[in-house]
Amino acid sequence: MTDLQQRGLHTDATADPLVAAARRLAHDVLRGSDGRWQHTEGVARRAAEASPAVPEADRPVLLAAAWLHDIGYAAPLQRSGFHPLDGACYLRDHSWPEPLAGLVAHHSAARFVAAVRGLAADLEAFPADRYASGPVADALTYADQTTGPTGERMDVEDRLAGMLRRHGPDSPNARVHDQRAPAIRAAVDRTERVLHAGS
Ligand SMILES: [Fe+2]
Repeated sequence: MTDLQQRGLHTDATADPLVAAARRLAHDVLRGSDGRWQHTEGVARRAAEASPAVPEADRPVLLAAAWLHDIGYAAPLQRSGFHPLDGACYLRDHSWPEPLAGLVAHHSAARFVAAVRGLAADLEAFPADRYASGPVADALTYADQTTGPTGERMDVEDRLAGMLRRHGPDSPNARVHDQRAPAIRAAVDRTERVLHAGS
């Protein structure tokens, strides 16, 4: 039994070479950073659970994006200091598929934070109209926002409250919370509706 099977991640999509490569890269760059690898493993588990909410052909890219969504936190990858953008730029510059870079750029409604950090134009190198919405983007945000900082399953409201506490009241995240939180809740809600409709 493989490591992924032991962790309950065995689906046809997890056997996809893109998913395996994404997991390897994330492990290489995040394993040394406090909690990030555990969070990433949790998000990948949640994405696997959420994969019935997206078309079968899109499941590998959803799972690969889940493994890669936070690689921009890794010190060697940091450029702007905004992890969705830094992760996406790394993937683009290393010839990963464009949709993967786009999904990483826009995960968890990153565009709102990019705007207040003066990085909107940089993020728009990965067009929001293509990658910030739709079932795969929703499922990725669902997975990220229902997984806690060390990989535990978490209610979205607790996740949002914890994020505000960690980043602080003057943070860019806090400044755009009134716009960003409804977008996150809506993505989570849409994914849950599809999952429950299919169960
Ligand atoms: Fe995350």
